[in-house]
Amino acid sequence: MKPIWLRGIVEISNRCRNNCLYCGIRAANAVVRRYCLDADRILAAATTVRQAGCGTIVLQAGDHPGLDDETICEVVRRLKRDLQFPAVTLSLGVKTLPQLAAYRAAGADRYLLRFETSNPARFAAIHPDETLEQRLACLRDIRQAGLWVGTGFMIGLPGQTEADLEQEIAFTAALQPDMVGCGPFIPNPQTPLAGAASEFASLEPYYRAIRRLRELLPNARIPATTAFDALEPGGRRKLLLSGFVDVYMPNFTPTDCRGDYLLYPGKPGVDETPERLAETLLPDLRGLGLDPIDEWGDRNPLSDGVIVNGKPRPLPLPCTLSAALACLGVRGQVATEVNGTIVQSDARPQTVLKPGDSLEVITFVGGG
Ligand code: 5AD
Repeated sequence: MKPIWLRGIVEISNRCRNNCLYCGIRAANAVVRRYCLDADRILAAATTVRQAGCGTIVLQAGDHPGLDDETICEVVRRLKRDLQFPAVTLSLGVKTLPQLAAYRAAGADRYLLRFETSNPARFAAIHPDETLEQRLACLRDIRQAGLWVGTGFMIGLPGQTEADLEQEIAFTAALQPDMVGCGPFIPNPQTPLAGAASEFASLEPYYRAIRRLRELLPNARIPATTAFDALEPGGRRKLLLSGFVDVYMPNFTPTDCRGDYLLYPGKPGVDETPERLAETLLPDLRGLGLDPIDEWGDRNPLSDGVIVNGKPRPLPLPCTLSAALACLGVRGQVATEVNGTIVQSDARPQTVLKPGDSLEVITFVGGG
């Protein structure tokens, strides 16, 4: 059975300061009722995500400074400490390096920020408040802060030709992200791009883009994004069965807020309840012949991880043995062995781990 990693999404706020031309929660859309979940509601939603068997929770929101960092950090700490999430992902728009570092220190593991398009003129045409360079700088900061990078672009933006699409794919591959989320652009009637159509004569280029990304990024996580269901009924399922994706991101936003987070029309599951989703998620995926995995899962651990005490563990490789011990949460006095050779503690900062290495960590028990 093909493994599929689960990342439960909670859309924690639809407040946004930006006016991206394509997006349903753009600031100028006065029709949308704005909401912002407080810490207790986020934690309640997260409890359902955990019970449903998701090893990662993704907190997503519009780009808004009003969502204060203190609250975000406290929520992240509680997700890790109280709900024992193996991984926490944030997707809250463009942030500064100190903000990202604070999220990392609170326990966040990954950050998602799409660059949307790598063509600077097209980026500027649809993002009145930002430049492409700012987005790319933020992606560098995400990595710098020690968070794993998720990015991606929209497929079929107005004016994007198939040759442009190839460019986006090549650009993404050059970034070497840990995760790539790409989905079809769906015109939203409440936005200035209401009537904009894609250049493509068929749906084939959308699926081909995902296949190409998988070829170029064999070790990246690639989700079956929700917008494929808005492209055509069963689009996400088709992707799941294609074998090119390895992540599914079920939506656990409280039902009373779902209708207010419609970035594009035709988003599935607006009437679904998180409780029902929690019951049906695993059986539905297994019914498709998939093997849902309730753990960290950032890289393909067998091809790109380190075997720690006999078990594959994902690590941001290459990294030093000291950094690896920190990532693995190893504290106190331990003995370490890399590929069968003992590494003394003063040599750990100079010892670099590569994919496929084998690490033994021996903890000393008692005081001798
Ligand atoms: N169609 C498809 N995707 C959209 N997004 C926002 N608006 C639309 C739309 N109309 C995507 C953007 C953003 C992500 C959260 O949702 O790529 O990064």
